[in-house]
Amino acid sequence: MAVAPSSSPTVPVPTPTVTSDYVTPTAAESTTAAAEPPAQAPVPPSAAASLPGQFSLTDPASRWVVVNKHRPLQPADYAPADLVQPRVRVVATGEAALLNSTTAAAAEAMFAAAARDGVVLTLASGYRSYATQVATYGGYVAARGQADADTASARPGYSEHQTGWAFDIGDGGGACSFEPCFADQPAAVWAKANGHRFGFVVRYPLMFHTITGYYYEPWHLRFIGVEAAADMSARSINTVEEYFGVEAAPGYA
Ligand code: DAL
Ligand code: ZN
Repeated sequence: MAVAPSSSPTVPVPTPTVTSDYVTPTAAESTTAAAEPPAQAPVPPSAAASLPGQFSLTDPASRWVVVNKHRPLQPADYAPADLVQPRVRVVATGEAALLNSTTAAAAEAMFAAAARDGVVLTLASGYRSYATQVATYGGYVAARGQADADTASARPGYSEHQTGWAFDIGDGGGACSFEPCFADQPAAVWAKANGHRFGFVVRYPLMFHTITGYYYEPWHLRFIGVEAAADMSARSINTVEEYFGVEAAPGYA
């Protein structure tokens, strides 16, 4: 599907309509104490192994693909074959309004359920091509330097947004978009509590950056399917790295 990239190569500034993820670490995350991994019970390798129906952890077309700083997309310029625009409230433009078809259907169901609970979710940033990620990441590096950029934006070929399985949400009023205070907005509170019912997880939870490689992004949701997301929630497993039994990826190898 041919869709024009919608982001500028030199604009890292967040707005509800940009295709970048803006991340400002919370005070706790950026302190020395935050450098230590959170205390947690050991998780057996691939807690997902008991689920019926297994999916690839490496194929970017798989709902279980784990993409992080140790696990680039293969091929690096992968593009989903089934990008569609979900019938939800979209505040993104161009390719950023798209998701893969499975994620789009799940998003439609989730946004509708939120609305029934009186909560507005918006699609703030969905699919990003490799070329767009080149521009997005390059903008971060230019503005903040590479070390800081790497805490907020994936390098080209390393972003979940390129799979169509992930997207960023906003609040109906646009409050705190891509800011730490978004965690307290109704959209984020609802999505954190209910996302698993529709197959979504908050991919970069608070204080798990030593595993995921990124500071808290309460807006970034990732589809892994209802069974896996509900299982993760029931077991109180916070990251897909732990759930699928792959190594932590705090930095690029
Ligand atoms: N902000 C996330 C990590 C991304 O750039 O994909
Ligand atoms: Zn995101």
